Formats: sequence, C-alpha cells, structure tokens
Amino acid sequence: ATGLLGDALGRPLRDLRISVTDRCNFRCSYCMPKEVFDKDYPYLPHSALLTFEEITRVARLFIGHGVQKIRLTGGEPLLRKNIEVLIEQLAALRTTEGKPLDLTLTTNGSLLERKARSLKAAGLHRVTVSLDGLDDAVFRRMNDVDFPVADVLRGIDAAREAGLGPIKVNMVVKRGTNDHEILPMARHFKGSGIVLRFIEYMDVGATNGWRMDEVMPSADVVDLIRQELPLVPLDPAAPGETAERWGYADGSGEIGVISSVTQAFCRDCNRARLSTEGKLYLCLFADKGHDLRPLVRGDVSDEALSGAIASIWQGRSDRYSELRASLPPDASKGGRRIEMSYIGG
Ligand code: GTP
Ligand code: 5AD
Ligand code: SF4
Ligand code: SF4
Repeated sequence: ATGLLGDALGRPLRDLRISVTDRCNFRCSYCMPKEVFDKDYPYLPHSALLTFEEITRVARLFIGHGVQKIRLTGGEPLLRKNIEVLIEQLAALRTTEGKPLDLTLTTNGSLLERKARSLKAAGLHRVTVSLDGLDDAVFRRMNDVDFPVADVLRGIDAAREAGLGPIKVNMVVKRGTNDHEILPMARHFKGSGIVLRFIEYMDVGATNGWRMDEVMPSADVVDLIRQELPLVPLDPAAPGETAERWGYADGSGEIGVISSVTQAFCRDCNRARLSTEGKLYLCLFADKGHDLRPLVRGDVSDEALSGAIASIWQGRSDRYSELRASLPPDASKGGRRIEMSYIGG
C-alpha cells in the first residue's frame, strides 16, 4: 500500500492498545501490589482522562496509518463508566481497506457476567480474560482482594453465551506461586474452544519486585503440558504476534505461550499504546510517553495531529525485551518505568 508508515526499524503500525482507566478492583502482586497501590495512590483525576470523543478521534487517525486492531485495556477497562458508549464509537470505524476493525478488550472478568451482553450489543467483537489459576485459594491470593474464581468463570461463560468470541484466557505464570495450576488450567480449557495462553512473568513497572527466578520459561510450560497432553507446533496466525501457538495433537484446540523474557518478539512489534491521559507509548517498557493531549485539546487539525503521530512512530526504535535479553539475567532496566496498570498489557 502507498504511504504505509514504518518505524525506524521498518516495523508497521497495526495494533493500538488504549488504556481507559488506571484503576483496578484487583491487586495482583505482579501488577498492582497492595503496599504501593493503597488508598493514597495518586490515580489520574477525571479531568486528565481523554473523553470518548477524544479517544475515538485519535483512534481514527491511528487507523489512517494502518491500525487494524484496537484493544481496550486498563487497569480494568470495565470500571470505566459507560465504556459501551466508547465501544459503539470505535465499532463504527473502518480500516483503510474499508474493513471492520478487530475490536477487543482485556479484562479481569470480575464484571463480565454483568456486562457481556451490553458489550456485545455495543459492537465489541471478542474479549481476553486474565485468569491465573482455577484453585479458589490460589486465585484469591493472586488477585489479593479475595475475589472468588467462580465469578470469573461465570463471566467467561457469559461472554461465550453473548457471542464475544473467540475468547482467550491469559495466565501469568509465577514460579512457586501458581505453576502448579498450569496443568489444571490446560485440562479445564482443552476442548472448550477457548485459547489459553501462558505469559512469562515480566519485569514491567517498577513496583512488583520482579526476579528472574520467579520466571518460568515458556519452554518448560510446553514440556510440562505435552508430557500429559501431546502438542504439535502451529504456524503464526499473524505477523508480529505475541504468542507462539501450539495445538493439541488430538485436534481439541490450541494453547499459546507469550515469552517476552526468554524469547523476545520485538523484531515485528507493531503495537502502539495510548494511555488514559493521552500519552503515546512506543513500548511496554518505555519510561516516557509522547503527550498527545495538548494537541488533542488544542486547536490542531486532524492533518496536523495525524502528522505528529506519524513522525513519532517513524522515530521509534524501541526493542526493550531484545536488549534486556543480552544483559545478565537479573539485570532489569533501572530507573522509571510505566506501570502495567497504567498502560494495560
Ligand atoms: P490477540 O492474540 O490478538 O488476542 O492479542 P495479543 O496477544 O496482542 O494481546 P494480549 O493483550 O492478549 O497480550 C497478551 C499479553 O502479552 C499481554 O497482557 C502482555 O503481558 C503481553 N504483551 C502484549 N504485547 C506485548 C508487547 O508488545 N511486548 C511485551 N513484552 N509483551 C506484550
Ligand atoms: N508480567 C506478565 N504479564 C503481566 N500482566 C500484568 N502484569 C504482568 C507482568 N508483570 C498481564 C495481566 C493481564 C494483562 C493485562 O497483562 O495478567 O493478562
Ligand atoms: Fe488489575 Fe489486571 Fe493488573 Fe491484575 S493484572 S491488578 S486484574 S490490571
Ligand atoms: Fe514491543 Fe517493547 Fe514488547 Fe519489544 S518489549 S515486543 S518493542 S512492546
């Protein structure tokens, strides 16, 4: 296609992930540890948030540069008031080829039973649900707000009944905390039509006390599962995908592993991230965003705003996971880093 945007490493812009709130009702230790995210934590004030109209305008301009997929994230995106209204606006947008977007959302599932039907009615295509174990005690400990696993499972059922598929489930594996839940999770979702993906615990943010010895390499996850449930490798579904796909040898579905620690996938990374307050981040591990809000709120034309987005993307050379992989195992980039709860996954 003509005029297609590439970054400094030749990577196109395909995936826009929009954080709609920095708040969450869970306190997963690897993301929003309670000691840091307490009642005094300085969350963004309402006036700082981009409005739905502002988000939709920015999204439309990103789509003009080749974005095909939009994912709503948080914090917990279902905590944003009237999120259905934003979904309606985004669902009306079309890619540069005139096709509907791949419009999806990542949620902890706690409000999904209540919201699945209205989300579908608003035009959401699918959801990805985070779920770190099936054992109620383990799950309650990991979300650290004593939230019962049964409610999330009912949320997943509700999403399926509402037609919000194909559904994916993301499990962050922390060695010593929930690795014994890998097999029960695999057995539970095998044959369900739901794609379960195991995520390596990452050194995102600066508050989770990440240590390499708590990372379980995806290769070990795959070995563990295939001993009991034979697996065959599958080809990638799309270029630049986060997950490596594996199919059950008996044809009863697939799983995925997301290995950003042991097998960085920056080379084809086509993801841009827009924070709740309108900052554009070029990498999950970036320490600084590009503030679009003054442009969005200023007297700036679509052309000028679109041009600003293009030049930011063209200057992008981020490839954090690849660089970190060449450092000693426990060497995590120092300094300030954005929190996962601020920018979403
Ligand atoms: P689909 O496969 O289209 O559903 O989406 P996806 O895999 O792009 O999105 P999802 O939000 O499900 O990503 C899964 C997890 O992978 C995220 O929660 C992050 O933990 C991780 N992840 C996603 N994108 C990146 C990335 O660009 N870099 C790194 N290091 N990790 C990522
Ligand atoms: N490492 C890996 N995945 C993480 N997530 C949040 N924090 C981390 C981390 N430190 C995941 C959540 C959810 C998605 C938004 O990101 O579990 O699936
Ligand atoms: Fe909330 Fe998701 Fe972070 Fe857990 S991982 S605290 S559910 S945003
Ligand atoms: Fe993309 Fe940064 Fe993740 Fe690499 S570390 S895949 S550049 S977001």
